[in-house]
Amino acid sequence: MKRIFVLTACAAALAACTPQKSGAPKAAAGAAAAKFNTDLPMTEFMGHVVDPAAFMYWKGSGTEVDEKGEHDLSPTTDEGWDVLVNGASILMEAGNMLQLPGRVRAPEADWNRYAQQLTERAAIARAAAEKHDKKGVFDEGGRVYEVCVACHEQFVIQPDIQANGPAKGDPLPAVPGGKAK
Ligand code: HEC
Repeated sequence: MKRIFVLTACAAALAACTPQKSGAPKAAAGAAAAKFNTDLPMTEFMGHVVDPAAFMYWKGSGTEVDEKGEHDLSPTTDEGWDVLVNGASILMEAGNMLQLPGRVRAPEADWNRYAQQLTERAAIARAAAEKHDKKGVFDEGGRVYEVCVACHEQFVIQPDIQANGPAKGDPLPAVPGGKAK
């Protein structure tokens, strides 16, 4: 009885009964498997995803000194705090994206550890921003920065030194956002 009902329903709404997981209108059979596009080279991924996200966060913390004195850079509006939450959220996901096949570099265990630390620390940083916790944002932003530096040290600076010999004045980004290379 139930079977007949199902068949009738299928006849009435054929499309609804075709086995498509995502509901994508024209997914071909077998196309439901996950597929990642990692065409963005690491430099582009860093420069256009990771770095801007980090600065969305860092720009809203600490103080800045100019000729008029010291200014608190912390957001003053809900929208302003939301920018920090946005940046930290992107960094959380960036840790995942770094571990996609095609992005991981050897030694993989080290690479993945840095990527996971990025997500972990960004999550804590995000929570501080959600609480509008100025000191927390400053401290946790610094802890996020430590992960950037540690990964760059092992995967950018050391290989560069091995390939080109000791320091020739322009190692890669000691300061994220700097236009090195
Ligand atoms: C898991 C390792 C890893 C982490 C974590 C990481 N980076 Fe990178 N980053 C790299 C690698 C590798 C390169 C060099 C890319 C290349 O030369 O192929 C790079 C390069 C960069 C560059 C230079 C891009 C260019 O145009 O040359 C910037 C800027 C950067 N990273 C910012 C950051 C910031 C900010 C963070 C932390 C929020 C961060 N990175 C975290 C691995 C990492």
